[in-house]
Amino acid sequence: MSVAFRVSGNADLRMRNTFGVAARAPLLVEVDDAAALPEVFARHVAGGPPPLLLGGGSNLLFASDPEGVVLSLAARRRQVLADDGILGIVRADAGVVWHDFVLWTLGQGYAGAENLALIPGTVGAAPIQNIGAYGVEVRDLVHVVEAWEPASGRRLRLDREACAFAYRDSLFKREADRYIVTAVEFALPRTPALRLDYAGIGEELAAMGVDAPTPALVCEAVCRIRRRKLPDPAVVGNAGSFFKNPIVPAAQAAALQAAHPGLPQFAAGDDALRKLSAAWMIDACGWKGHRDGDAGVSPQHALVLVNHGHATGAALLALARGIADSVRARFGVELEPEPRIVGARW
Ligand code: EPU
Repeated sequence: MSVAFRVSGNADLRMRNTFGVAARAPLLVEVDDAAALPEVFARHVAGGPPPLLLGGGSNLLFASDPEGVVLSLAARRRQVLADDGILGIVRADAGVVWHDFVLWTLGQGYAGAENLALIPGTVGAAPIQNIGAYGVEVRDLVHVVEAWEPASGRRLRLDREACAFAYRDSLFKREADRYIVTAVEFALPRTPALRLDYAGIGEELAAMGVDAPTPALVCEAVCRIRRRKLPDPAVVGNAGSFFKNPIVPAAQAAALQAAHPGLPQFAAGDDALRKLSAAWMIDACGWKGHRDGDAGVSPQHALVLVNHGHATGAALLALARGIADSVRARFGVELEPEPRIVGARW
């Protein structure tokens, strides 16, 4: 078999994480074909700590160097597997850049992914934290997740149900290290069912002079909002929202609403629970635009931690803990990080 992977020692990961923090991998293995994973594991992983699977590096923070092998899946095929004129089944390898995939699906005449435009990262990472924005989550589109299970050596096809998706969560996040997502199949309609209800989308389309929205125009509106509201990781290091919006019992949400009438609350898919705006609480504690050296909170969005240059992962983590402490003290609410923290416990 031809070798379908490339190995480098003491690899620099700074350009491979969107926070842009310094980190090095003892061994980086770039896998061009997922079929080579058993060989990669046998040769480079067996007996060592679990490997770290690195996609676009847009949802992790290196608090220290990873201990084990770092794996990067480089395959980038995209294909239409089936199309009955109503629904298409499209497949993309884990290494495909998510935003490129969104644009490609729209170009193929499929709807559904337009609200998820411009989310950094790869297709393979999308189901892990069930990426979401503007009222849509990737679970709404997933047909099957293809994965490889190192412990059993099995290749698996997990349907949407089996992925156990929840808000910014899935089986793959809960059982980190158990599966390697190798590709994702999506079910996408040809007839759009546009989701324009999330705050800001309708206004943006109106500002663009659009009165007959299409998926491509919604995609453009989402891109404009994101470019305005969120710092671009190519310009200033960040990993998007650093904290999840906390989900609390409805009674606690009601008490918080009475004490803080401005605190935005959202449905949480269960009447007994409410989702609170973490950004608002962090902002209310005065963190927006704060800087500790090069570790800071974006002046654009209170939920986004930023690296102004040479912040270490440890400094960003310390800042995040300070933010969580002040939100706990003022609101009695526990914040949880959204990105995976490598090399430290939250
Ligand atoms: N707000 C503030 N201060 C700020 C920013 C926001 O008070 O600096 C308040 C405003 O009241 C605003 C509310 O927070 O109305 C909500 O803000 P926004 O619409 O930006 O949404 P979010 O809840 O902060 C979530 C996702 C984002 C996603 C947006 C839009 C999470 C953790 N974050 O943010 O996802 O783009 O909704 O759908 O669920 C990500 O996960 O990395 C991410 C960027």
